[in-house]
Amino acid sequence: MKIFIIGVAGGVGLRIAEQLVKSGDAPLGLVRKPEQAEALAANDIQTTMGDLVAMSVNELAEKMLGFDAVIFSAGAGGKGGPEARTQVDGSGPGKVATAAKQAGIRRFILVSVFPEAWRERHMNESFEHYMVEKKRAETELVLTDLDWLIVRPSALTNEPGTGRVDLGLAKIHTQIARDDLATTITALLRTPDLNREIIEVTGGNVAIEAAIDTFKNTRRR
Ligand SMILES: NC(=O)c1ccc[n+]([C@@H]2O[C@H](COP(=O)([O-])OP(=O)(O)OC[C@H]3O[C@@H](n4cnc5c(N)ncnc54)[C@H](OP(=O)(O)O)[C@@H]3O)[C@@H](O)[C@H]2O)c1
Repeated sequence: MKIFIIGVAGGVGLRIAEQLVKSGDAPLGLVRKPEQAEALAANDIQTTMGDLVAMSVNELAEKMLGFDAVIFSAGAGGKGGPEARTQVDGSGPGKVATAAKQAGIRRFILVSVFPEAWRERHMNESFEHYMVEKKRAETELVLTDLDWLIVRPSALTNEPGTGRVDLGLAKIHTQIARDDLATTITALLRTPDLNREIIEVTGGNVAIEAAIDTFKNTRRR
């Protein structure tokens, strides 16, 4: 499969790309810095230079021609202030979805967030803005006619993956290793009949493939 990844140099995007390369798929990611392109090339991950905010929909669509799916795992991550949050986390997914449609790609996986993430911590204004923008992105994606899948992970850690998760329509917000999220997303890519769903995923005890299978079976209409 040819997979276009937005956010490929990030913690989750990189792990997804590494897994796809290992399985013989062809990921290609958008990067903003030449040094990232070099580092990724050393791991056999192909990249193309571009900034999601600066690029037009047409420019994005041109780069995405011929791909089978898009994964959006980018995030402003506190860099660039509220405007970057708005443009990347909020407007980014809808913009990339429009480009995907233009490029003839149907499958779109968005890495989002649990709406109730860290409600108990009384977070600052910047975090609240992040939450609002992530939700706005979801609302825009679900209005498209793409085969979208929204994956809401709980708090991400860099612990080694366990190969096990807890996954479903509504889960308690805890934490999940980026490794396990990446494995879940690559497995979801191979489950094309599961789409137009919002899935919450957190650390758990069920093998990832089995968790996806069970979810799929409960969603058969
Ligand atoms: N952290 C958590 O606990 C948590 C919890 C739930 C969900 N999430 C979501 O999980 C996703 C992945 O998280 P992560 O840890 O992998 O994030 P990350 O390491 O911060 O990676 C984000 C990536 O997005 C890229 N990016 C930012 N602005 C861009 C732009 N204008 N054009 C192109 N690329 C751009 C960054 O590129 P540069 O390297 O050039 O900056 C970076 O590679 C994010 O969507 C985040 O909101 C995170």
